[in-house]
Amino acid sequence: MAILVTGGAGFIGSHTVVELQNAGYDVVILDNLCNASEKVLGRIEAITGKSAPFYKADIRDRSALEEIFAKEKIDSCIHFAGLKAVGESVQKPLEYYDNNIAGTLILLDVMRKHGCKNIIFSSSATVYGDPAFVPITEECPKGVCTNPYGWTKSMLEQIMSDMQHADPEWNVVLLRYFNPIGAHKSGTMGENPDGIPNNLMPYITQVAVGKRKELGVFGNDYDTPDGTGVRDYIHVVDLAEGHVKALKKIEEKAGLCIYNLGTGRGYSVLEVIHNFEEASGVKIPYSIKPRRAGDIATCYADASKAKAELGWEARYGIKEMCEDSWRWQKNNPDGYV
Ligand code: NAD
Ligand code: WQD
Repeated sequence: MAILVTGGAGFIGSHTVVELQNAGYDVVILDNLCNASEKVLGRIEAITGKSAPFYKADIRDRSALEEIFAKEKIDSCIHFAGLKAVGESVQKPLEYYDNNIAGTLILLDVMRKHGCKNIIFSSSATVYGDPAFVPITEECPKGVCTNPYGWTKSMLEQIMSDMQHADPEWNVVLLRYFNPIGAHKSGTMGENPDGIPNNLMPYITQVAVGKRKELGVFGNDYDTPDGTGVRDYIHVVDLAEGHVKALKKIEEKAGLCIYNLGTGRGYSVLEVIHNFEEASGVKIPYSIKPRRAGDIATCYADASKAKAELGWEARYGIKEMCEDSWRWQKNNPDGYV
C-alpha cells in the first residue's frame, strides 16, 4: 500500500516524501507543478535512493484522480496541494477558493469512492487569526482570518471535521503548521519561491546571496520585546517527520485529531536576522518599513499535544534552520535550475 502525497513536489511535500521513504513507506506523488519544479524528483531520489511514481495532475481533475486511484494502491493521502500566497489570495479569491476548496472536495470524493478514508491535511496557525492567547494550544478558538488563503484552511478544516463526524470510518489529522523554514541538510532541496519572496526567511537568504538589496522589516512598534513580529519558526525536516508520526496515528485509527506543529519558542524578526548573520557570516542590511496589512504581533505554539499523542517534537533550533536555509540558497541561487 502506498501514501499519496499531493503537492509532493513543493517545499514541505518534497521534504515529507524523503522522510516517508526513509521510514520505509511507498509513496506516490501528485503535483500540477504550478509552484514547483519537476527537478525536485531527481533530488529526492538522490537522497533516498528510491524513486516514486509521479503524476503531473491537478487535484481538480477528477478523471486524473480516478486513474491514479485505479492504478495505484493508495492507503492514505497527505494533502499539501494548494495555493499559499497570502497577498495573492486577496487579489484572486475565486482562484484560491477554487483551487484549495473545490480541489480538496474532488480529492475527498474520489478517495471515498475508492475506499481510501485516511487523510493528513496541511493546515496552518493562520486559522487562529489574532490568537486569543499565546502559547497557542489546539483549544484556542479559531479566529477571524485576514485573507482568503487563511479562510480556505479554516473552511477545509470544518469540511473535513464534518465529513469525519458523518462517517467515522474516516481518519482525519489536521496539522496546523507554524512558520516552516530551513531546508534539507544535503543543500539540494529547499524553498523555491517564484518572484519576490513573501516570507521572511527566503527574503533574507535572497538578500544574503545578493539577489535583493535589503530586507524590509515590517513594523517595529508591536507589543513585543523589540517591537518586531514574533513567530514560531520550525525546521521543514522536523515538520516532515511530524507527518510520519501522524501517519502512525492514522494507522491506530485516529478519528479526528488536530495538532499544532511548532517548536513552542518564538523569535522576533530582528532575532532571526541576527541568528542568520551568525550562521552564515553574511551581514543582512535592513530598514524598518510600515506594518504589513493583516500581520499580528505574536504567534507561537504550545506543541505539547503533538509530543504527548504523536511522540513528536521539534529537534532543530533556529541555528540549524538558518544554516540549512543558507546552504540551500548558496548552493542553488536560482532554485531548481
Ligand atoms: P508549495 O507551494 O511549495 O507546495 C504546494 C504544492 O502544491 C506545489 O508544488 C504546487 O505546485 C502544488 N499544487 C498547488 N495547487 C495544486 C493543484 N490544484 N493540483 C495539484 N497540485 C497543486 O507550498 P508549501 O510551503 O510546501 O506548502 C504545502 C502546504 O502546506 C500548502 O497547503 C500550504 O498552504 C500549507 N502550509 C504552508 C505553510 C508555509 O508557510 N509554507 C504554512 C502552513 C501551511
Ligand atoms: C514572518 C514575520 C512579518 C517578510 C505566513 C502566512 C501564514 C503561514 C506562514 C501558510 C512577520 C516579518 C516578513 C519580510 C518582514 N503560511 N517579515 N519582512 O506572516 O507569520 O505567516 O507564512 O499557512 O499563513 O501568513 O510569515 O514569513 O511572511 O513573516 O519583516 O520581508 O516576518 O511581518 O512578523 P507569517 P512571514
